[in-house]
Amino acid sequence: MPLGRSGNGKPARPAEERVPQRAPERPAEERLPERYRNEPVPRGEGATLTRVQRQMGVTTPARLDTSQATAADFTAERYLRDQSLAPRDGWRRVLFWLTGGRLNLGPSPAEMAERELIARAKTPVPGCRSIAVISRKGGVGKTTTTLMLGHTFASLRGDRVVALDGNPDAGSLGYRVRRETAATITNLLADEQMITRYADIRAYTSQAPTRLEVVASDDDPRITKALGEEDYRRAIALLERHYNLITLDTGTGVLESATRGILQLADQIVVVMSPSLDSARAASSTLDWLNENGHSELVRSAVAVVNGVQADGQVEVGRITEHFAGRCRAVVQVPWDPHLAAGAETDVARLRPTTRHAYLEVAAAVADGFVT
Ligand SMILES: Nc1ncnc2c1ncn2[C@@H]1O[C@H](COP(=O)(O)OP(=O)(O)O)[C@@H](O)[C@H]1O
Ligand SMILES: [Mg+2]
Repeated sequence: MPLGRSGNGKPARPAEERVPQRAPERPAEERLPERYRNEPVPRGEGATLTRVQRQMGVTTPARLDTSQATAADFTAERYLRDQSLAPRDGWRRVLFWLTGGRLNLGPSPAEMAERELIARAKTPVPGCRSIAVISRKGGVGKTTTTLMLGHTFASLRGDRVVALDGNPDAGSLGYRVRRETAATITNLLADEQMITRYADIRAYTSQAPTRLEVVASDDDPRITKALGEEDYRRAIALLERHYNLITLDTGTGVLESATRGILQLADQIVVVMSPSLDSARAASSTLDWLNENGHSELVRSAVAVVNGVQADGQVEVGRITEHFAGRCRAVVQVPWDPHLAAGAETDVARLRPTTRHAYLEVAAAVADGFVT
């Protein structure tokens, strides 16, 4: 059955699968007793303060048409004063420790910036979001990005995160974590009817120390090539019932092959490229293709990753970044890291701090899309 996208660019999946059904609510204002109701706030430019806002000490009128603020914004990272937080590391931490906490300079500006990224990466999701990691070139870091995005989310967030190998060309996602099970996506699909609880699906995943779970694919390309759009749709529908975030590794044929319908299943995309002209051109033409084929919403909310950046590279990475900044929600440069270059099981603790920080930026930029 062909899969369609609903008007807002989301896949046309039954609503009850994604969000619990609730009775329609009256606007918050109408639910207040009359004497507490506020006068309407004019929207946009020139908004003025209402009487109640003035009494509450509000000095800046809300831009109701653009604000994406929610109660989830009130995190310790954002709202506690610098001095009330103990520094985590550096000389400020040493000073704090030596004086038994009496001299507390608070976190450094860099630490505060990191806390802000963590707060963004922890943006709650209603139901489940699937994030497809795509590129039409092989070896640019799709699998690595799928995993690292998953590891970053899983280690910071309290909800469940799973990475699915959606590469029909015998993907390698399963080799980058210690395997707890030999089960693959093929077994998961075969046993679909028997999987009702989280404990059931857990038998088909391997969990890393970060709490990220991974569903591997088969080693044999004859099996994985036989998987089509409908199989991936079933696998994702199953995972959606038990997980809040799905990071989805894809193959290079994401636009051409039978599995290109995988894009219909994605709420957001991360487009990966290496810091080279041909890779950046391929990534940009992928975005052109998506725009021309009804996925312009995915392009606008996309996060571009320039992966494996080295200080002495020949290419003007800044110019590439500029190009994608004009097309996508965000662009992040991920440095070349010797631990990732091994292409083996990833131990997040062994990454360089700058690499970990870059993936935190990727996760924060992706999570900015959870509120829309
Ligand atoms: N930032 C990086 N630094 C160093 N090596 C990397 C980096 N990203 C990926 N690699 C390595 O490059 C190779 C290709 O990456 P991979 O994620 O498998 O690409 P793809 O899935 O696009 O084919 C792998 O050996 C991987 O470990
Ligand atoms: Mg790969």
